[in-house]
Amino acid sequence: MKINGVAYRSLWLDEDGWSIRIIDQTKLPWSLTILRLSQVAEVAEAIRTMQVRGAPLIGATAAYGLCLALRVDASTDAMERDAAMLAGTRPTAVNLQWAIDRMLTRLRNTRPQDRVAVAYEEAAAIADEDVAQNEAIGRHGLDLIRARQTPGKRVNVLTHCNAGWIATVDWGTALAPIYMAHDAGIDIHVWVDETRPRNQGAALTAWELGSHGVPHTVIADNAGGHLMQHGEVDMVIVGTDRVTRGGDVANKIGTYLKALAAHDNDIPFWVALPSTTIDWTITDGVREIPIEERSATEVTLMTGQMADGSLATIQVTPNGSGAANPAFDVTPARLVTGMITERGCCDASPEGLLSLFPERA
Ligand code: MRU
Repeated sequence: MKINGVAYRSLWLDEDGWSIRIIDQTKLPWSLTILRLSQVAEVAEAIRTMQVRGAPLIGATAAYGLCLALRVDASTDAMERDAAMLAGTRPTAVNLQWAIDRMLTRLRNTRPQDRVAVAYEEAAAIADEDVAQNEAIGRHGLDLIRARQTPGKRVNVLTHCNAGWIATVDWGTALAPIYMAHDAGIDIHVWVDETRPRNQGAALTAWELGSHGVPHTVIADNAGGHLMQHGEVDMVIVGTDRVTRGGDVANKIGTYLKALAAHDNDIPFWVALPSTTIDWTITDGVREIPIEERSATEVTLMTGQMADGSLATIQVTPNGSGAANPAFDVTPARLVTGMITERGCCDASPEGLLSLFPERA
């Protein structure tokens, strides 16, 4: 996608041909800061601190992290150790483990002296496939948006967190259909949940949509139910960090409440995902998906821009009050209208997912 007319991916190889470049997402929307990462420890830190974030993107970034590690030591012991270290940086998004597993499957069958070249080839394939999958999700989701059009009325979509192009290598998942609808001339408007505590909606989704010229309005996380009751939301589209084989959906904390409100108001609730986000090994999302618990300071402190342009971090809770910060929740399949995948749309059910991915039966 483009920033000020210049095409970017959210992750790319530096011109030196081996180190990687990322957009520091902790600096958005205030500044476009590009970082160069040249060591596996820097990659792990970037994922942990959410300089890179979003399920597909952390998978692709970790794949390149393993490339950097192998440049230093391509022995089997070091490779297994560094892979485990990268996989442990964030627990909920299954794309991370998926990308590491895919790399290891190829590399374990490769001689140590050939591993660096093979690793870069595989990481590039992971990144390119992510772009192609998300573009396909966009095309399938566009049909759903078209189906919600009524003459003379704009289509209002509500989204949560950031499942846009900077959460993937390009295009995004939930936002890909929205970009395509806008580009196709459909009158579309997006309600952007601010997504406390880290404000991925207010900071990242709003920045992305604004950069692409898509009409949008940021709302407090608690406003969605009210807007749904008053006919202001035609459909909800969210991304996800892990889907069970039965269609339960882990996504950013607060997604479950939006699904409940959408269900109560008979509003379609769609989940957009590349198949790399499906964890075929589990069935019960609430019990089996590990939920990341992040620092309490993400709740007690907020960072924003002051009138003079400087950034400031302030405390929004009383001294001494504790805070809890579960970063994801699980929306049961029964609340999900359907899945938008690279192979098309399906029910959020074992049968639905297997109809698109029969090789997983
Ligand atoms: O904690 P984050 O910001 O990495 O969480 C991201 C989300 O929950 C996204 O909605 C999800 O990864 C889908 S990304 C295309």
